[in-house]
Amino acid sequence: MAKLLLFALGTAHLATACQRDPHLLDDSKLTQTFHLVPREAAPFPPVWTDHEEILHTSFSTASIDRWLSYYTHGDHIAGRNKSIAVETVKTWTELGASASLVEYEVFLNYPKEQKLVLNWANGSQYEAQLYEDALEEDETTGYPESRGLPAFHGYSASGLVEAEYAYVGRGHKDDFAALTAANVSLAGKIALTKYGGPFRGVKVRNAEKHGMIGVVMFTDPGDDGPQEAKGQAVYPNGPARQPSSVQRGSVAQINQYPGDPTTPGYPSKPGVERVSNPPNLPKIPSLPISYRDAVPLLKALDGHGVSGKAINRGGWIGGLNATYNTGPAPGVTLSLTNIMGNKITPIWNVIGIINGTNADETVIIGNHRDAWIIGGAADPNSGSAIMIEIIKAFSELLKRGWKPRRNIIFASWDAEEYALIGSTEWVESHLSFLTTTALSYLNLDIAVSGPFPSAGATPELRTLALEVMKKVVYGNGNRTLYDVWHALYQFRPEDNGFTNLGSGSDYTAFLPLGIGALDFSMGGSSTTPVYHYHSNYDSHHWMKTMVDPDFSIHATVGQFITLLGYHLADDALIPFDMETFARNVNYMVRDLVVETMRLDTDSGEIQRRINITALDAAAKTFQTVTSNFAALTASKEFLDNECRVVAANKKLRDVQRLFVREEGLSGRPFYKNALYAPGRDDGYRAQTLPGSTEALQDGNLPLCREWNLWLADRIDEASELLVSV
Ligand SMILES: *[C@@H]1O[C@H](CO)[C@@H](O)[C@H](O)[C@H]1NC(C)=O
Ligand SMILES: *[C@@H]1O[C@H](CO)[C@@H](O)[C@H](O)[C@H]1NC(C)=O
Ligand SMILES: *[C@@H]1O[C@H](CO)[C@@H](O)[C@H](O)[C@H]1NC(C)=O
Ligand SMILES: *[C@@H]1O[C@H](CO)[C@@H](O)[C@H](O)[C@H]1NC(C)=O
Ligand SMILES: *[C@@H]1O[C@H](CO)[C@@H](O)[C@H](O)[C@H]1NC(C)=O
Ligand SMILES: *[C@@H]1O[C@H](CO)[C@@H](O)[C@H](O)[C@H]1NC(C)=O
Ligand SMILES: *[C@@H]1O[C@H](CO)[C@@H](O)[C@H](O)[C@H]1NC(C)=O
Ligand SMILES: [Zn+2]
Repeated sequence: MAKLLLFALGTAHLATACQRDPHLLDDSKLTQTFHLVPREAAPFPPVWTDHEEILHTSFSTASIDRWLSYYTHGDHIAGRNKSIAVETVKTWTELGASASLVEYEVFLNYPKEQKLVLNWANGSQYEAQLYEDALEEDETTGYPESRGLPAFHGYSASGLVEAEYAYVGRGHKDDFAALTAANVSLAGKIALTKYGGPFRGVKVRNAEKHGMIGVVMFTDPGDDGPQEAKGQAVYPNGPARQPSSVQRGSVAQINQYPGDPTTPGYPSKPGVERVSNPPNLPKIPSLPISYRDAVPLLKALDGHGVSGKAINRGGWIGGLNATYNTGPAPGVTLSLTNIMGNKITPIWNVIGIINGTNADETVIIGNHRDAWIIGGAADPNSGSAIMIEIIKAFSELLKRGWKPRRNIIFASWDAEEYALIGSTEWVESHLSFLTTTALSYLNLDIAVSGPFPSAGATPELRTLALEVMKKVVYGNGNRTLYDVWHALYQFRPEDNGFTNLGSGSDYTAFLPLGIGALDFSMGGSSTTPVYHYHSNYDSHHWMKTMVDPDFSIHATVGQFITLLGYHLADDALIPFDMETFARNVNYMVRDLVVETMRLDTDSGEIQRRINITALDAAAKTFQTVTSNFAALTASKEFLDNECRVVAANKKLRDVQRLFVREEGLSGRPFYKNALYAPGRDDGYRAQTLPGSTEALQDGNLPLCREWNLWLADRIDEASELLVSV
């Protein structure tokens, strides 16, 4: 069993964020072993303090069901539903988190005319169905808005193009390199690409770079666990993907910068100056289609260009009945119509506040509210329903006269789906408040789409997160969340199951300010029902019949975030584990050395030229300093001295700000955190030490050296800050 789990977890990535293609744990034994795992280190029932018990037991699964139903029965595409925001303000305020609407005026586009036709060489045509089948069992799939709004890509370029087309795999830059090496003609053609791998916007940008004039993106059921082709029934009758389901989504390049594309780096207030031709938006049109519609398009390429086998790239050949040849097929063309309507239009964040006794320290908890479709039961509204229960839990303490030590801010973001807009604009309007007071940002997005917990987190939050998991009951069973986490991730001692944060959800705008974050969700595996990401089938009906019938997994997520927020906001000493933080800085340096060695043909020469030694020495010293800091701040003598605790808290709040580099990464000034940024080639995954690593990969050794010396200097400053308290 140990080996199996190690394999499964070492090779797969869990879904953590909304703009991310949910990847699956790919071991079919996993679900089984997971249910057999005995209780581990955490006592059951958990041992709670009075406050923890009040917070944990205030959760009502019936209320979660009701609120989820509310949030999943109306159009709430970004900027289109003010009433749902107003209702959220009213509810949060009644519960005691004084809330208000915070409006921005942002650039969005909505679909007007969408059409895709395949023209065979014999003159026959096939037209793709750009909406999803209405299912009798699933009410909201039959709403007129579901039918009236075609599947589209947010921020796609308007255009009418007709050309031969080529299949380009997942549209990664290495896929294009393989196509170029095989002499497949791309310029002037339309790209047929499948989801998975790089972020949508990155696929379109790569096609654009190769002179292609349009993009069609399909979902390949070969990436799913349960599959129709393997004899499993499709939704709503079974766990496999509904064949007409389409993944919508944004094609903005959030790894260049997130937020309103027309106001890079500053808030989108009315009347503000706007960039007229945003550099992070695509220039060529694109459309998403279902796998049912992808079959004739792929099949028409069979026998043309280079075969999928000859291209020989992992994931190139999928689960549909075709050879996945590159094409193009002579005389076989696509006519792609994508007319978008542009608008500068209001969006509405909901911001709720519980003031702390200490105004200088703030914890933020957020989830977005907009979805591409009527439902959005997992993405994002499992979180919207949970947020109400989280606030209700804190209100139970407020009713008893409690006031948190620190401010707690709750956020329901709008327009996350287009480019993390609501959160980014809000952060850009509160730079100095956040820089001076924010401790951590806790994010929910796709909070529940399956039973398996996963999380990305900055390292200082990981130990606290594990401790809090021991206090949370998993589902309605007799295990803690920690037991389940431990069962899944016990073979990852280096990171304890946590990933680094790249991009894909609303924590993205916080990290560049040096504010640590945690992003938590419950996702599926290769044996649980397929998650219909960004599709009409991400509905209340799907959630209730396929994922969390009694809403106990929703409650678990809420209880975890509540207790985590409670400890961050109310513990006398901020519960950051700086020793783990320093250990991870050392891992980052090690990974940079590994990357250097991969590129170093003249053994050791590159390492010398980029001054890895100085960086490595600084990181090692930092490790020693933080170990001493941890020992010192754990002592009774220290904790009894309020002045020293207050002084240490200031340092804990500020230490990560040292890693903010004002000018940002080269070519990406928005991304200012020198420890992590979203990957350039992928868009979702984190790149650690991005300044150094990217310079190294570009062969710019002087720049890499400059980053390394800067980092060494900042790490030394961090050591100086923590060396005494
Ligand atoms: C806004 O969303 C709510 C809740 O889902 C829904 O009841 C209402 O009909 C929606 N309003 C519009 C204009 O679509
Ligand atoms: C044209 O070719 C397509 C694909 O092979 C086929 O489905 C269609 O029936 C053909 N049309 C005619 C008129 O032969
Ligand atoms: C691609 O074209 C170049 C130049 O015409 C040729 O040398 C090379 O062998 C071709 N490669 C393949 C895989 O056909
Ligand atoms: C797959 O496609 C081939 C060739 O187009 C066809 O003969 C075969 O019946 C198809 N198989 C299935 C399972 O649809
Ligand atoms: C919270 O504190 C801020 C700043 O002191 C103040 O403006 C605001 O009115 C307070 N809000 C509540 C609900 O007490
Ligand atoms: C936990 O509950 C399951 C049934 O839900 C039961 O089979 C098992 O024995 C219980 N384990 C413990 C340790 O109570
Ligand atoms: C950086 O490395 C060079 C040699 O490559 C060395 O001369 C210089 O002293 C180093 N600088 C620092 C700050 O370590
Ligand atoms: Zn989302």
